[in-house]
Amino acid sequence: STPERIAQVELDLQRALDAGYQLLESGAPAHEAVVAAIHVMEDAPEFNAGRGAALTSDGIAQMDACLMTGDGEVGAVTGVSTVKNPIDAARAVKEQTKHVLFADPTDAEIADWGVATESNEYFITEQRRQSLAEAQSGGDEWEKHGTIGAVARDSSGNIAAGTSTGGITNQMPGRVGDSPLPGCGTYANNDSVAISCTGIGEAFVKEVAAHQVSDRVLYAKEEPVEAAKAALDGVARHHGDGGMIVVPAHGEGAMVFNSEM
Ligand code: GLY
Repeated sequence: STPERIAQVELDLQRALDAGYQLLESGAPAHEAVVAAIHVMEDAPEFNAGRGAALTSDGIAQMDACLMTGDGEVGAVTGVSTVKNPIDAARAVKEQTKHVLFADPTDAEIADWGVATESNEYFITEQRRQSLAEAQSGGDEWEKHGTIGAVARDSSGNIAAGTSTGGITNQMPGRVGDSPLPGCGTYANNDSVAISCTGIGEAFVKEVAAHQVSDRVLYAKEEPVEAAKAALDGVARHHGDGGMIVVPAHGEGAMVFNSEM
């Protein structure tokens, strides 16, 4: 993490915030702000999503994404390798199909959804190639993290959450993390919270982390920040680290993490 790289990440995060916030200010629904913010981060090579996604052990970018609105509607994809913005495919599943989750959708399905595509090479950056080489030679690598997400509440009080990721560097082909699994890495309920998680997906899946935060807020009446910390403690018990961003149906948002990034 060089100062230049940190500065670039901060700039990109600000651009993502601006893209989402401008839409909210103009009265757009929460999920549109979430998608707009995620687009910026998927297109920026610094993040582990879209262009710049972490690579599998066979050197492919294999990406997951999920979009959920507080009314309980959700769409997700896993293992996409040509969708330019995987969050668009997740949105298409939510809005254009009666299903929730597609694994490695066909070219015909992707074309039918009307989402933009790129060759797999587009997603692969030199930095990710180097990380994969390091990981495969037993060296240290940090791309267990970098999954991106966004949460928003709109002027009507509806909330939404989205998450997009390339998974973990050197993961086995076909491995699925928490991000595309509703309730694990992504969740939204207009009665509780919208939440997006980043970190070691297996631990978030075992903890059913995102849904747990919602349940803690809804049933145990915990504040979102306390609920997120408690769920993250559970993630740590599964030897996972990472973070969560949370926007509640009412009140202040929260950001908690137990990772360095
Ligand atoms: N949190 C992203 C992943 O583990 O795939």
